[in-house]
Amino acid sequence: MGKGVSGSELKSRRFCVCVTGSVAIFEGVRLVRELSKKFNVNVIVVMSETAAEWIPPLLFEWASGETPIVKLSGKAEHIRVFEEGFECVVVYPATVNTICKMANGICDTSVTLFLAVALGLKLPVIMAPAAHLSLYANPMVQECVEKLKSLGVRFTGPRLEEGKAKVALVEDVLEIILETAEEKDLMKKRLSGVSFLITAGPTREYIDDIRFMTNSSSGKMGLALAKEALNQGADVTLVIGKGSTVAPPPGIRSIWAETTQEMTDAALSEIDRKKQDVIISVAAISDFTFKKFEGKIPSKEEISVKLTPLPKLVEIIREKYPSTYMVGFKAEYNVSDEELIKRAKNKLKESKLDMVVANDVAKEGAGFGTDTNEVIIVDEKIIKKLGKLPKTEIAKIIIDLIAEKIDLTQKEIKIIKNRP
Ligand SMILES: Cc1cc2nc3c(=O)[nH]c(=O)nc-3n(C[C@H](O)[C@H](O)[C@H](O)COP(=O)(O)O)c2cc1C
Repeated sequence: MGKGVSGSELKSRRFCVCVTGSVAIFEGVRLVRELSKKFNVNVIVVMSETAAEWIPPLLFEWASGETPIVKLSGKAEHIRVFEEGFECVVVYPATVNTICKMANGICDTSVTLFLAVALGLKLPVIMAPAAHLSLYANPMVQECVEKLKSLGVRFTGPRLEEGKAKVALVEDVLEIILETAEEKDLMKKRLSGVSFLITAGPTREYIDDIRFMTNSSSGKMGLALAKEALNQGADVTLVIGKGSTVAPPPGIRSIWAETTQEMTDAALSEIDRKKQDVIISVAAISDFTFKKFEGKIPSKEEISVKLTPLPKLVEIIREKYPSTYMVGFKAEYNVSDEELIKRAKNKLKESKLDMVVANDVAKEGAGFGTDTNEVIIVDEKIIKKLGKLPKTEIAKIIIDLIAEKIDLTQKEIKIIKNRP
């Protein structure tokens, strides 16, 4: 298959599989399942409304692990999905209706709209037509096929079997996907095969059953890191605090957690399950908890609460996983750069981290809720001071620094350790 290229090289790539209203739709389920479970590709399925009448989207959700897109919403999925880095579109099965609409620039279904955007972005598009011989032989259909071919769209099938036109076999579609991926250099990005767990956003500690203590962390920095790692080919799991104001994109396994305990449990269970190579703890996890009151504390009554320190998640993880590459964030308030570096270095040592990203949240445009940040990155050797930058740019610098620490020249991922 694929001239010696193995499907495992597609691990963590992001493909969009469009399915349309043909009886061959069942084959689409098998393709999605193979891509997602065997090749570990992140697949988002887009279904035409006709396709969704034929097969419940739930079956494709089972096959891909993601909720399929049938109707577009105000979130403009046709733009968002590609912004998030989905890089190849496969239409399997492709009806004549969708082929002809695409060739004529019509975009009146979720599938045709996705295809129009993919063409505009010059992304690789693979189509596997499913149609009766007579329907496919229609000169207008052939004209559309030729037009799409001239625009770079690849076709596989239909194949002839006992005088009948049949949609291409799943194996043939996989083969053309591998060939295309190889040609378009979709294989092996810098962080292909590296897995990340990132915590993001705030946690909540309840005083009684309705009131809680939290902070204004938005989850933006953690999400920017998750997206950047994903763009560089990593497999990313995000454990995200419920108070976050951001929504994780498809392609990132996201687990929502509310309290510190929930975030700790979620992170530990994901790490136990997957043994990620890199862990970045960005979440503004509460350092304290309360002895919670039952029900609602009556108003107008003066009460005292006692704050009890909580164990540090990074230290729990480090205890269990001594060799995982771990990055921690440290937020301080109104301190000098020298003091910030000193505290970051202390944290590096105390929590046995490999890198600490520190910031002073008292500074304007730094820290919680903002789109920018101003950080100092510290590890055993480097101290990198970054002026005020968008969180997306800071994320790129941090992920690049982490990638430099990971020796990808060997097949096995080797983390270059330099922990104090
Ligand atoms: C039983 C049945 C089978 C069909 N099979 C096909 C097919 O294999 N290929 C095709 O191009 N159209 C087929 N059609 C027609 C499409 O479902 C129809 O053109 C529809 O509008 C396609 O919408 P879509 O391209 O948005 O999914 C079939 C229709 C029915 C009722």
